[in-house]
Amino acid sequence: MSNIERFTHVDELRESIKMASQNGLIGFVPTMGALHAGHLSLIDRALAECETVVLSIYVNPKQFNNAKDLEKYPRNIEADIQFLGDRKLLVFHPEYEDVYPDDFVAAKVDLGSLATVMEGKFRPGHFDGVVTVVSRLFDIVDPDRAYFGEKDYQQLAVIRRMTQIQNRNMTIVPCAITRETSGLAMSSRNMLLSREERQKATGIYAILHDGINHVSEMTPLELTAKLINNFGQQGFDLEYLSVTHPETLEQLSDHWVPGARVFVACFMGTVRLIDNIALC
Ligand code: PAJ
Repeated sequence: MSNIERFTHVDELRESIKMASQNGLIGFVPTMGALHAGHLSLIDRALAECETVVLSIYVNPKQFNNAKDLEKYPRNIEADIQFLGDRKLLVFHPEYEDVYPDDFVAAKVDLGSLATVMEGKFRPGHFDGVVTVVSRLFDIVDPDRAYFGEKDYQQLAVIRRMTQIQNRNMTIVPCAITRETSGLAMSSRNMLLSREERQKATGIYAILHDGINHVSEMTPLELTAKLINNFGQQGFDLEYLSVTHPETLEQLSDHWVPGARVFVACFMGTVRLIDNIALC
């Protein structure tokens, strides 16, 4: 017998969470499905730290700035449920009307420069859509702890800011990136890659990781130029590459700070991949 309880409607989920909250902490892992080992690492951490874990699976149209990207985003709820095995979870997979009822009013949050660099710059409106859905999901689930992956490091920073501004009484738990043995960061979009593209995509982590070797001999700006050059030489279609402060996400120029990170977005054919690592 499966340990999974499935919910589509908000009221039924809320009722179950209300009862469960008497037994201890509520953990929450929001996802868009097409689950892989990266998602499982968040889920298993939540299960280890909380008495009850809610997993949401919802492809949120509001955060897609590209209709084609939304259309081809992989969806298979039954395969996702199978993939969860015997884990004990409350799985929330709502329809659009459940998330966005007629009287829904989107939360407005001033994200400042966090929303205008990197993903914010190249995917206009993306973070407004993320804030809208995560804020709504937080209102529904009201978790003690919510788990987000560093794979989407800028999203994590945005959610932290949102939680502060909205004065939410919950802990945002950052989780390290899960990679394939090749180094490729796990992503739902990887399944859209051809075999050749997938092979070539392993170069993303290899180039970023090599950057660590040059931190002591170069400024952040010099390293940025070098890495952009390396991506170019290996034939990558780069959208941006940025070396930044780990909290403000502002580009670094002349001096290193502890935890400085490098972020990249590139296209493999029509599939857009992102990755990031700490450099020092
Ligand atoms: P999704 O891309 O499905 O990711 C769900 C969560 O899994 C995010 O916190 C993401 O950072 C994390 N994740 C994905 N791949 C990972 C990997 N390889 N290692 C570690 N964590 C990984 O991010 C979203 O969905 C949406 O924007 C969402 C927050 C659900 C709002 O719609």
